[in-house]
Amino acid sequence: MYISDQTIDRVREAIDIAGLVGDYLDLKPAGRSLKACCPFHQEKTPSFMVTPDLGRYKCFGCGESGDGITFVMKMEHLDFPDAVRFLADKYGIPIEAADPREVERQEKKEALFRINREAAFFYYRRLLTNRRPQAYLRRRGMTSAIINPFLLGYADGQGQSLYRYLKDKGVEEADLLSLGLIARSNSGQGFYDKFRNRLIFPIFNNQRKIVGFGGRVMGDGIPKYLNSPESEVFHKGHNLYGIHTVMERPHRDRIIMVEGYMDVIGLYGQGIDYAMASLGTALTPDQARLIKRYTDQVYLCYDGDSAGIKAARRAIGVFRKEDIVPKMILLPDGLDPDEYIHAKGKEAFEEAIRQAVDPPSFEIKLIKAAHNLEEAGGRMDFLRQAVDYLATLESQGVRDIYLQEVADLAGVKPASVESDLEEAVKKKEALEEEARARRARVSGPGPSGPIDEAYDDEPDYYEEMDPFYEDGPPPYMEEGMDRAPDQAAGEIRDLRVRSRLEEALLFRLQEGPLDDEDLDLLMDYMSPGLEKTLAETMVALRKEGIAPSAQALKESLGEALPEVLYMKLVSREKRDRVSPQDRETLDRELFHRVRLARLNENRRELEGKIRQATREGGGQEIPALFQALQEIDQKMMQMKEGVDL
Ligand code: CTP
Ligand code: MN
Repeated sequence: MYISDQTIDRVREAIDIAGLVGDYLDLKPAGRSLKACCPFHQEKTPSFMVTPDLGRYKCFGCGESGDGITFVMKMEHLDFPDAVRFLADKYGIPIEAADPREVERQEKKEALFRINREAAFFYYRRLLTNRRPQAYLRRRGMTSAIINPFLLGYADGQGQSLYRYLKDKGVEEADLLSLGLIARSNSGQGFYDKFRNRLIFPIFNNQRKIVGFGGRVMGDGIPKYLNSPESEVFHKGHNLYGIHTVMERPHRDRIIMVEGYMDVIGLYGQGIDYAMASLGTALTPDQARLIKRYTDQVYLCYDGDSAGIKAARRAIGVFRKEDIVPKMILLPDGLDPDEYIHAKGKEAFEEAIRQAVDPPSFEIKLIKAAHNLEEAGGRMDFLRQAVDYLATLESQGVRDIYLQEVADLAGVKPASVESDLEEAVKKKEALEEEARARRARVSGPGPSGPIDEAYDDEPDYYEEMDPFYEDGPPPYMEEGMDRAPDQAAGEIRDLRVRSRLEEALLFRLQEGPLDDEDLDLLMDYMSPGLEKTLAETMVALRKEGIAPSAQALKESLGEALPEVLYMKLVSREKRDRVSPQDRETLDRELFHRVRLARLNENRRELEGKIRQATREGGGQEIPALFQALQEIDQKMMQMKEGVDL
């Protein structure tokens, strides 16, 4: 909303700077001014002066200065209009809007925020009264202490719970649709809840308003996350998950950017309460600017896989444009922050923060990790790649600093690499020159630097990755279920479900013995190869009276046990024990999913056969195949209905 200029003037006049600042700081008289220790930098003797005559403050230590409005912007982390609103409220000045249409828009937004809030509390109450999501959180090593600060919730699988609840409260369907909380069913008749069978993460903005939701499947379904769509009140590129908790910290000296909701809450639960995540999208300039309002000490701790590294590189560039050089936290073995802190604990994570490096060292360490520096050949390859990287650094001075680091790692003298580096720089410059010349020939002089990338209309990269991003209507609510027509996409999806399920099964097996029926199913399901070997080793160890701990598995499997899996197993071992009742519920679900997945794979296979038979004109088999397909469908339907009854 645009606040009228008259209102802003009246707020300015109303400000009593000594009283305002005095609400935050202990002011002592000093001549015609007042002084205190500066809130914007660390100091022991006061150099922060407030001059009531001028209505201004200035710190002679760090140079910060401004008036009452900028003071509130800084202390409360508000933008200008919100600081004006804050002060207008404080001094009882009515806010006149510049434009009535704006006022209307603002009111509309407030109404949508209220609906989101109602929905969040609905999900929250469901979480408090439901063992299933609680057990899921506990299983992931989350303490209940994270539930309230993040207002976590649970959406059940019934299909219309939220819709009915809010409709009873008089909420309009159009609003629920625009917030993405419900969708219209395929038949066009009724409505159904978009979030079903999911753990709910409400997303707060920096004014503690709920702008949207993320919902995670509690297991291995797809899509893993479902997020609210962009709406009047939700702009992914302008919000950050976790910002409301970071805001509450009295000393916001630094923040850590992570990739996932789970990372934010996992770190918080272990006492690292200054992490935030972008919302499944690449970091945007708006988000970087938002962060800059809080601190310019930014740490990046993205997942260690290739997607995470790519995202980290882009984020570095975005921060650079805001004059922030982030520090990079490297976690071993492709672990993400949540996995790492659960495996190693808070101290180890804080140590990783202390070991954080600047972006060039980050790149060098990545190149290092890809080579075996024990071998001469590995060292040579490392040097070649590292030198090529160094050549991309902007200045001679910077290159020299990191040249030292590269040389040390390769165990050679910097002087011996200098000429290689010079050559690489020359080559790079020649290439750039050539490209510039070519551009000039084609289109006349263009922009010299790299063209700003348009982050804003870039699609979420997770959406791109995940063709099943849109969770459709619950199958049992629709007639003529619309089965995935695309065989290849279906197979990819099956594979992903399979790999997640296999991991879940291994973790389950590690936790304790299974009854015969479940164990048979597990063995039958596991892919031949590593997965099956691991499962068999676990069973064999247990038969010998040895707990199949990560350590024991490593000892019996050696190199065959991938390091990442080993770390994950270690991390699981540190988690709380699950109560027998929860165990039972969780097992039922897990094996239910395995049965479903297996049926689904059978179904996919049958579909393939039908297609083949149709193509090859083998007409006789087709009716039998269809019969089999129908039986599977029926079984799947029955099973799916059973889940939430
Ligand atoms: N994300 C998404 N949609 C997906 C996958 C991921 O929106 N299908 C977003 C979510 O914001 C998620 C983040 O990308 O939090 C990071 O993804 P990932 O690392 O897969 O999720 P985590 O939050 O780490 O969850 P978990 O630990 O349960 O795997
Ligand atoms: Mn994770």
